[in-house]
Amino acid sequence: MANRNSVILSPSLLSSDFSRLGEELAQLESAGLDWVHWDVMDGSFVPNITFGPPVIGQCRKRSGLFFDVHLMIDDPGRYVAAFAEAGADLLCVHAEAETHLERTVSEIARLGMRPAVALNPHTPLSVVEYLLPQLHMVLIMSVNPGFGGQSFIPFCIDKVRKLDLMIQRAGADTLIQVDGGVTPDNIAELRRAGADVFVSGSAFFGHPPYAERHQAFMAAAAPVPQPSERE
Ligand code: DX5
Ligand code: ZN
Repeated sequence: MANRNSVILSPSLLSSDFSRLGEELAQLESAGLDWVHWDVMDGSFVPNITFGPPVIGQCRKRSGLFFDVHLMIDDPGRYVAAFAEAGADLLCVHAEAETHLERTVSEIARLGMRPAVALNPHTPLSVVEYLLPQLHMVLIMSVNPGFGGQSFIPFCIDKVRKLDLMIQRAGADTLIQVDGGVTPDNIAELRRAGADVFVSGSAFFGHPPYAERHQAFMAAAAPVPQPSERE
């Protein structure tokens, strides 16, 4: 399973061909990807609408990928059981959308999924501080959520750095995911800042073949040397 020494690319299906979702998933798997990112949008928390548990549940039957499900919906606690039933492996809720965040995080774990919390670009890190021991991952939004293909917001690099320190200070092993405007040009800086999981939509799906594109991201990320490899 993923840990803080891993570098993981989680392609966002938002930029895939929705009319061929099953084939897209099969191609990701045969290209050597392990994770896939599902952007669930409700037209209220964000100004766009995508798909929900029925679509994910159907695709679950055809894919062995790790389903990284990012909920951009109001009051996500209402749908935790539905996404568990659909077969999400990780369920990520926005702190801004959930009044009772601890309860929802606990419920996600209780139903056998890995809990994660997403923060919009302007949301302070302090909202997740007390939850870190319970969280598999924190998602740092590096664009305002709702659409693919937007430009990366530069201050998010500093935010990743600060979250990395916060995680270390807490003695937690929470992963840091960055989502929005990630490309082979900025992945190395994000990795150095402490990010572990990189979501990419337009910069991934717009450049097939997927195996080569995956390798381009991984090579650019330049994994941090292990302690035994350091001087
Ligand atoms: C934005 C979504 C992202 C998006 C990323 O609301 O959460 O996952 O699809 O797309 P790119 O990589 O094109 O910014
Ligand atoms: Zn996303």
